[in-house]
Amino acid sequence: MQVWLLIPVLVLSPDKAHMQIVNYPDNLCHERVRAWVNEMGALCQPDRVYWCDGSEQEYDALCAQLVRSGTFIKLNEEKRPNSYLALSDPTDVARVEDRTFICSLRRNEAGPTNNWVAPHEMRATLRRLFDGCMRGRTMYVIPFSMGPLGSPIAQIGIQLTDSPYVVVNMKIMTRMGKKVWDVLGEDGFFVPCMHSVGMPLAPGQEDVPWPCNRDVKYIVHFPEERSIWSYGSGYGGNALLGKKCLALRIASVIARDEGWLAEHMLILGVESPDGEKTYVTGAFPSACGKTNFAMLIPPPAFKGWKVTTVGDDIAWLKPGADGRLYAINPEAGYFGVAPGTSAETNPNAMATISRNTIFTNVALTPDGDVWWEGMTPTPPPELMDWQGNHWTPDCGRKAAHPNARFTAPAHQNPAIDPEWENPNGVPIEAIIFGGRRSRVMPLVVQATSWNFGVYLAATMGSETTAAAAGQVGVVRRDPFAMLPFCGYHMGSYFNHWLNIGRSIGRPPRIFGVNWFRTDEQGNYLWPGFGENMRVLKWIVEKSRGKARSVEGPLGYMPHYEDMDWTGLEHFTREQFNALMAVDRREWIQEVLSHEELFLKLYDRLPKEMIFLRELLLSALWRSPEKWDLAPERV
Ligand code: GTP
Ligand code: SPV
Ligand code: MN
Repeated sequence: MQVWLLIPVLVLSPDKAHMQIVNYPDNLCHERVRAWVNEMGALCQPDRVYWCDGSEQEYDALCAQLVRSGTFIKLNEEKRPNSYLALSDPTDVARVEDRTFICSLRRNEAGPTNNWVAPHEMRATLRRLFDGCMRGRTMYVIPFSMGPLGSPIAQIGIQLTDSPYVVVNMKIMTRMGKKVWDVLGEDGFFVPCMHSVGMPLAPGQEDVPWPCNRDVKYIVHFPEERSIWSYGSGYGGNALLGKKCLALRIASVIARDEGWLAEHMLILGVESPDGEKTYVTGAFPSACGKTNFAMLIPPPAFKGWKVTTVGDDIAWLKPGADGRLYAINPEAGYFGVAPGTSAETNPNAMATISRNTIFTNVALTPDGDVWWEGMTPTPPPELMDWQGNHWTPDCGRKAAHPNARFTAPAHQNPAIDPEWENPNGVPIEAIIFGGRRSRVMPLVVQATSWNFGVYLAATMGSETTAAAAGQVGVVRRDPFAMLPFCGYHMGSYFNHWLNIGRSIGRPPRIFGVNWFRTDEQGNYLWPGFGENMRVLKWIVEKSRGKARSVEGPLGYMPHYEDMDWTGLEHFTREQFNALMAVDRREWIQEVLSHEELFLKLYDRLPKEMIFLRELLLSALWRSPEKWDLAPERV
């Protein structure tokens, strides 16, 4: 039932008398917001402008509308209450990094790792694209807060979109709705976020279930103006503009200017059996295990240990008065990778998505539930796949798209941390960086200093995943897991990290991990998932000065004896050493590819990076061909 259609507040805008205005908020007193929405309405020429209030009734009405229009399939109410499945256009399934632009005034402000077009030129392009782009559609006005509403560290955004799918996703992912107008008051700061699927409808033209523009896509950021324009895609980070566009690309620029960090990081809490609580953040590239790690359930043998989730994708870290870094999660939901998620790998995620969840590009079971690769050991005998075709296990196709996702409210996570909405954040003791590397990188290493940690993060490599359009499985440098998300010159970003380390009294310890090392046959050497607790425990205790290690060429590393193997006794010292080995020849190649990145960033590369590289080379030089956990301890 479309409740809001029965009781609309109807206001006719004076300049656009033909444009219907629906649900205009009675608490909006911000002249610039009004003027901007009017201006954008005049540009995009939608049939209606609908002001979102963020209510449950509105959410339900929009979902019902999405079911009627064929975008949503309502899932079995018994098995998956209040949940929906959306199947996207096959050309619109992931972030489009080659269509993502940082349009700073000067090219070099964006740096060599970002696409750049001169702002005036890009503005002309966007004006042309957005001119009439919402014809035949409704323009939704979505007021949202990244971070708890009214918190001093939250950022307000207003997204205008012609996609009701985006509205319902934003409702889960952010604090969205009418209350934002009160926070904004008459003159509050907001990030204007323009979004269109780029598919206007001619009079009488029938819509498609997943409107998008197959040929033209632009994800554009104006960092100085702090504004976002996204055209042509309805998927994930391309379209839910609070997430990567605002909370990472624009926020990283704000953070640089204000002296904090906006990072592609999970935040988790670890409670030890004696009740000591330690908060840790972890930066892993897209689809490399943040959600899994953030929701980790320790193995049964780890009695009394508990892991709680603060966030699974984005962390804003701010220096506190006590010299520590405090982290908040600006999001309110999870937009998580579905394939590989199961009761074995991530029971907390399975519980989180048991209800009130939107699934995109997973498969549908005959009884109206969802399925994806890795959810159960044996696939169901038949399914409807993510492209709407009949699927059987022997058909040779994937049932779910590898970047299929769920959108679910964070508060449904059974492991949610009690402090997850604390506006002051949680104090961070350790920062972990982890790429997806089948070779080269050991299971775990602690950087010997903040600066070496910055070097480790800056030179991080990872094999590409399905989270971005393009080739999967090729190693690329992904500094800080921020390559696709840093809104300014990567060299200046490294320097900003060095500056933060200098300016805080009690910087967190920095670690590198790699869950993805394989043998010659391509089998993972490390069991991963819940077993990552063993590494996490060493990290937590090491940051508190309670764990032992040896000094290897890359930093401090645990010996087999320094790790807790209770319940995994069959995992041998030889297996562990294979995971920890540092091969000098491989590492020389690795350093050469660090050099490639450094040359790319040459004009803004902090001098420290060069000296740190030399120290790393020197350590590699004095270590044997294959460094294998030498006996001396530190
Ligand atoms: P984004 O949401 O894209 O930023 O990614 P994320 O880092 O949150 O990714 P997520 O946790 O959803 O990881 C997805 C993929 O990583 C799946 O294919 C998982 O099976 C795999 N994965 C996660 N943890 C582990 C692990 O410990 N070991 C192994 N081998 N795979 C893992
Ligand atoms: C990522 O790609 O890192 C994601 C998913 O978290 S998206 O929101 O689509 O960017
Ligand atoms: Mn992410």
